[in-house]
Amino acid sequence: MSRLVRPAPLNKRLVALDGRATKPGMVWLVGAGPGDPDLLTIKAARVIGQADVIVHDGLVSSEILDLAPAAARLIDVAKRKSRHTLPQDDINQLLVALANQGLTVVRLKGGDPFVFGRGGEELAACRAAGLDCQVVPGVTAALAASASAGAPLTHRGAAQSVTFVTGHAAHGEPDLDWPALARPNQTVVIYMGLTTAGLIAERLTAAGRAPSTPALIVVNASRADEQRLPTTLGQLAETAADLSGPALLMVGEAMRLAQASEIPDAVLVRVSA
Ligand SMILES: C[S@@+](CC[C@H](N)C(=O)[O-])C[C@H]1O[C@@H](n2cnc3c(N)ncnc32)[C@H](O)[C@@H]1O
Repeated sequence: MSRLVRPAPLNKRLVALDGRATKPGMVWLVGAGPGDPDLLTIKAARVIGQADVIVHDGLVSSEILDLAPAAARLIDVAKRKSRHTLPQDDINQLLVALANQGLTVVRLKGGDPFVFGRGGEELAACRAAGLDCQVVPGVTAALAASASAGAPLTHRGAAQSVTFVTGHAAHGEPDLDWPALARPNQTVVIYMGLTTAGLIAERLTAAGRAPSTPALIVVNASRADEQRLPTTLGQLAETAADLSGPALLMVGEAMRLAQASEIPDAVLVRVSA
């Protein structure tokens, strides 16, 4: 079970009269990977184990948070698409304020901090405050999804390149280079695209990508409740319709190799009954 609220550790560090520690702490921007704790890097586990305080978002699993020292304080700044628990500027200021108290701060983010993770903004805020800030990469969701589906992101004769894009539509629709994404022989991975799947499929087909192009949706990649749904670009919206949870849309000829999730025995029994 996750220990979401913990008391702040007793801070035995020397603190100057203005409330700042005489020796500033530091900030680690750490990628927690896609969810499976086994996909955490050894370096990430080591850094988490040395934290005074962990500032984490909603996609970090409880098994990973449990690697923090018992005395470490856990702060959840969970971000959801339409519900920002803490605005990004406040998160930046929080990291700086905690490090200025002399603490070792671990900013733990789902996947990789620099892939749609706003890690660059946090790094810039720490640098502007004169703080030491180090980045530990993480396994981004696309790598976990492709691995468990057995569908390579690049594949000789099917995908010479891979592009990661966001399907998040801040101004009505995602601002993407559709003609470039519609070229064949490449894989396009769309993060945060579940709710805009219909629009994305429409734009890609209008720009020339065949509706028969193989596609794959992976929900909760690497977690116990992972779902893999092979489909086609033409069927993407329909396949996405009732899904929820963190999901990736993957489009490209190499997705032909994708394996669907195994259907649990219980479901088979129900269907055949
Ligand atoms: C704000 S982005 C963060 C991406 C993260 N930094 C990464 O490198 O994976 C959140 C989106 O990443 C994708 N995502 C994150 N974890 C996922 C998972 N376990 N399975 C499928 N998609 C995931 C989803 O598209 C989700 O909406």
